[in-house]
Amino acid sequence: MPKLIAASILSADFTRLGEEIKTVAAAGADIIHFDVMDGHFVPNLTVGPMVLKAVRKITKLPIDAHLMVANPDQVLEDYIAAGANYLSVHVEVCHHLHRTLQKIKQLGAKAGVALNPHTPIASLGYILEEIDFILVMTVNPGFGGQNFIPAAFKKVSELQEIRAKHQLSFMIEVDGGIKVDNIQQVSQAGVDIFVAGSEIFHSKDYSETIKKMRQGM
Ligand code: DX5
Ligand code: ZN
Repeated sequence: MPKLIAASILSADFTRLGEEIKTVAAAGADIIHFDVMDGHFVPNLTVGPMVLKAVRKITKLPIDAHLMVANPDQVLEDYIAAGANYLSVHVEVCHHLHRTLQKIKQLGAKAGVALNPHTPIASLGYILEEIDFILVMTVNPGFGGQNFIPAAFKKVSELQEIRAKHQLSFMIEVDGGIKVDNIQQVSQAGVDIFVAGSEIFHSKDYSETIKKMRQGM
C-alpha cells in the first residue's frame, strides 16, 4: 500500500483558499483533508458542502471529508454529492454504523470511521471488513496545531496487528500533531495516510516540508 499525505486545509489561509490548495497540490500532497466541524460534536465551527463543492472545482486531488458532526447520517450525502472521495464519520455518534458505512459506499465514496483518542478499537466490533479506512485521532478533534497524544502509537499498532491477523484491507489514517519530527515513529506503527495541517500550512516552503515528511514515512 502506498503511504499518502493528506494536507488539512484547516490551517490554510482561508482568504486565499484556492491558491493555498493549488500550492499544496503542486508541493506534492496526495489528498486534500477537509475538516467539517459543527460546534456541537466539537467546540469549533468550520466549513460545509458549499465550500467543498468550490474546492472540488479547483483540484483533481482526492478530497477526504472528516465529519466532526453530531448528525453524520443526515448530512453525509451532501458532502459526497459535493465531491468528497473519502468520507469519515465518528463512531461516537453513529448508532447504526454498519448502515452508515453501506450508505457511504453506495454513494460512491470510500467509507471511513474516525475514533476519538479515548475510543477503543473494540467499538468497531464485528464490522471491520466493511471499513475502507480507520481514522485514528491523535489529538482531541476540534482544532489544528495541538500535540500528538502518545497513546495513539499503541492504537495504531494494534490495528495493524488485527489487519494482518485477519487479512483485512482497511487503511489506517492518523490525524493531529503529525510533524516532520515524529512522522517516522508514527509511520513505523503501521500508518498509510498521514493528515498534516499546521506543519505544512504554517511552514514557509510546503514542498520542502512535504519532502521532509516523506523521508520519514
Ligand atoms: C483536528 C482536525 C485535524 C487538524 C490537524 O480536529 O481533524 O485534521 O487539521 O491539524 P494539525 O496537523 O495542525 O494537528
Ligand atoms: Zn481532520
